[in-house]
Amino acid sequence: MVMCLVRFLFVAGLSVLCAAQAWAQRYDAEQGRFDYVLHCSGCHAPDGSGVSSGGIPPVKDQIGYFLTLPEGRAFLMQVSGLLGAGLTDERAAGVTNWMIEQFAGPSMPKDFLPISAEEARRYRLAKPADIVGTRDAIAARLIEAGYPIK
Ligand code: HEC
Repeated sequence: MVMCLVRFLFVAGLSVLCAAQAWAQRYDAEQGRFDYVLHCSGCHAPDGSGVSSGGIPPVKDQIGYFLTLPEGRAFLMQVSGLLGAGLTDERAAGVTNWMIEQFAGPSMPKDFLPISAEEARRYRLAKPADIVGTRDAIAARLIEAGYPIK
């Protein structure tokens, strides 16, 4: 009986922990959509397909591959278009999470955890000086790993 109770409390405790974690990783999707339309869609197009003639890579069906590398996850938060929009850490993470969930399609990792505001702050502070070179290096690594990056 006591063992049962202990086990019950343990399982109940775990459920609370999991629920708290899921809650912490939720973000405001409506705000994300709003910020995307206002600050990003002019370059990235409403459906995330980009403008290949204008050097804007598609995020559609491809953004999720970046999440397979820690430096790729950070890179998504370091691009000039996002930094230039002047959003708070929370909204910067939110608009990126919204893009990922909206556009990643088949590139979406099964274990995707939304980017937190704390990560956004950390990654943005660590922005590399040469973001184009950084993208080239990450894209080369992803292509080597077999991901079709455009
Ligand atoms: C003035 C055009 C422009 C705007 C506005 C813009 N971007 Fe970008 N974005 C680019 C270009 C160009 C790249 C390619 C990498 C680079 O040069 O930074 C890019 C790359 C990205 C990438 C990585 C995709 C890849 O394959 O390299 C993400 C994620 C991204 N932008 C998010 C955003 C978000 C979020 C916003 C809005 C807050 C935004 N961008 C606004 C031009 C823009």
